[in-house]
Amino acid sequence: MNQRDLAKALKVAVEAARGAGALMRKNLRAVKKANLVVQHDIKLELDVRCQKLIEKILLKSFPGISVLGEEGVAGDPNSQYRWVIDPIDGTVNFAYGIPHACVSIALQEFKGPSRSDAGYQSVVGVVYDPFCDELWTAIRGKTALLNNKAIHVSNRSKLAEAVISLGFSKHDAGLNKMLPKLQDLAHRVRKIRIMGAAALDLVYVASGRYDGFMESGLRLWDIAAGGLILECAGGEFWNEALPGDHSFHIAATNGLLRKKLTAPLRG
Ligand code: IPD
Repeated sequence: MNQRDLAKALKVAVEAARGAGALMRKNLRAVKKANLVVQHDIKLELDVRCQKLIEKILLKSFPGISVLGEEGVAGDPNSQYRWVIDPIDGTVNFAYGIPHACVSIALQEFKGPSRSDAGYQSVVGVVYDPFCDELWTAIRGKTALLNNKAIHVSNRSKLAEAVISLGFSKHDAGLNKMLPKLQDLAHRVRKIRIMGAAALDLVYVASGRYDGFMESGLRLWDIAAGGLILECAGGEFWNEALPGDHSFHIAATNGLLRKKLTAPLRG
C-alpha cells in the first residue's frame, strides 16, 4: 500500500472505531448479556456486535483484507494485509460499568517468511476511548497523534519517579508471572497502576502519562495497534511470543526504562 492507501485505511479504521465506541457509550450502564463468564474473564454479546459492526465498515472499503479479531476471523488468511481487532478491550471494566475500555484496530502487513505473528508488522493503528473521546492514531514512519495532536513518551529515566502500569491476565501463568513484579516494583516506583485495558495502557505510555507498562499473557489484538502507536511516539515496544495462539508478554516503555523493566520479564 502507498501512503494514500494507508491514509484511507486509517480513515476507515477511525470510522469503525468511532462506530463501535458509540455502541459502547450507549450501553455502558445497560444490563449486558454475557456469552461466557469464567473466573477472570467475561465475553459479552456486545463484543460480538461491536466486532461485526467494525468488520462491516472495514470490509466495505477493503473487501480483500482479512480480519483477525478477538471475536473471530473473516476473509482469506493468505491476504497481504490483515486487520487485527479488539472490539472492546477492557471488557471486564465495561461489563461492570467502569468507563475505562476502548476499541483497538490495527492494519498489519505480511512481511514473511512464515504466516506466524512474527511475519506481520502493524502499519496503521487506531485506539479509541469512547468515554473520554480520545482517539490515538498512527501510521508507521509518522508521528503518533492523540486527537490529531502529536504525542511523545515521557523523559523520566528514574524508576523512583516512574508511574508504571501492570496488567493481570486472565490466565494463571500470567498472574503468577506478574505478582512478584508487583511486589518488587511497588517499593521502587512512584506509583503502580492496574487499570484493566491493555490497549489504553500502551497509548498512555505513548502519551507520556505512564512511563511503562508490563503484562504477561496478552493477545495480539490487545497490542497490535497500541504497540505501533507507542513506537511512533518514540517509545519502545518489547514483546516476546508465548506458547499458545497469538500470546505475548510485553514491556512498553519510554525507552529510558527499557532495561529496568524488560529484564524481570524474560525467561
Ligand atoms: C484484556 C484487557 C486486560 C488485560 C487482559 C486482556 P479484553 O483484554 O486488556 O487489561 O489484563 O490480559 O485480555 O479481554 O478485555 O479484550
